[in-house]
Amino acid sequence: MYTKPMLKEGSLKDQVIVVTGGGSGLGKAMTTYFLELGAHVVITSRNMERLEKAKLELEEKTGGTVLAVQCDVRNYTEVEAVLQATLDKFGKVDGLLNNAAGNFISPTERLSANAFDTVIDIVLKGSKNCTLAFGKHWINIKQPKSTILNIVTTYAWTGSAYVVPSATAKAGVLAMTRSLAVEWAKYGIRSNAIAPGPFPTEGAWDRLLPGNLKDKFDMKKKVPVGRVGEHQELANLAAYLMSDFSAYINGEVITIDGGEWLKGAGEFNMLEDIPKEMWDMLEMMIRSKKK
Ligand code: HXC
Ligand code: NAP
Repeated sequence: MYTKPMLKEGSLKDQVIVVTGGGSGLGKAMTTYFLELGAHVVITSRNMERLEKAKLELEEKTGGTVLAVQCDVRNYTEVEAVLQATLDKFGKVDGLLNNAAGNFISPTERLSANAFDTVIDIVLKGSKNCTLAFGKHWINIKQPKSTILNIVTTYAWTGSAYVVPSATAKAGVLAMTRSLAVEWAKYGIRSNAIAPGPFPTEGAWDRLLPGNLKDKFDMKKKVPVGRVGEHQELANLAAYLMSDFSAYINGEVITIDGGEWLKGAGEFNMLEDIPKEMWDMLEMMIRSKKK
């Protein structure tokens, strides 16, 4: 387990970064580290009370400056207002972290059309709204460099049963990341994504593993390295991708999951269950087939 901060002090000095869903869970963890590295951070979500609480806590912990702005990312006008509030307060914006998401488990046939839309609207339309508003701004003012970082999941490319709206939306966000990496590079805008594996947070865990499902499906067992992620590990990667150290990384999705999705993917990965002592006998049986 490695929980130390990775980048050198001041790596994000005076950078202004907007983090959607920055008042809770992984968004808050990434915000904390951005602040520790010298950035100013704007946190947004629907719940102003939670944002205000997070702002005070983060400022006290890091000594940085946080602006809390209420915003439902599904609403383009509200997103534009976040951009304006950011410019009013800090005079510029350098990075956008599309982290806000909505998700819950359900057999797809139980979902109403509105339930499906709700997740798509938060994840895909929300990321699109922020990307479009901030991208247009950077292009209009000819800002030399800026960064978009999108939080997706590994099922953006594998798909996943029981979280179909989320998988559909995250796949769209990944396609947008890669498309704009090419189209907007000429404007100095880099687009990258992170695909986290299981990182315990209240928001995700209570909706994806409610009640005793947490005990029934121990996420650690799905991960080859035998544990879930530490928030600082994700924050280290996010800060790196936001910083100039990653200036040559564009259009990339970096998986941080201890090997989880590949464990599910490899045809013969189930052989993990074979005890070491059995391999002598198995080898003999295979070799004997030659004769
Ligand atoms: C079926 C449901 C439902 C459920 C809501 N709905 N919950 N349908 N099963 N469990 C339906 C409602 O009945 C309604 O449809 C529609 O969805 C919208 O519901 P609202 O409650 O009105 O929506 P809203 O208040 O906007 O809330 C959005 C939400 C909620 C997505 C439903 O869960 C939320 O606020 N989530 C934000 C935080 C979050 O989800 N974090 C987890 C991110 S984890 P009708 O037809 O009745 O109107 C993640 C990836 C993790 O993304 C990967 C792990 C490895
Ligand atoms: P979380 O705490 O529930 O984070 C979701 C955030 O999004 C909340 O702060 C929520 O705030 C905000 N949000 C939801 N709907 C919004 C809307 N319409 N407008 C604006 N903000 C909205 O869960 P988390 O685990 O930290 O998830 C963070 C990100 O990591 C998500 O993109 C998720 O898909 C991704 N992820 C998480 C895991 C994991 O294991 N935790 C794994 C893979 C990917 P409000 O409710 O106040 O609006």
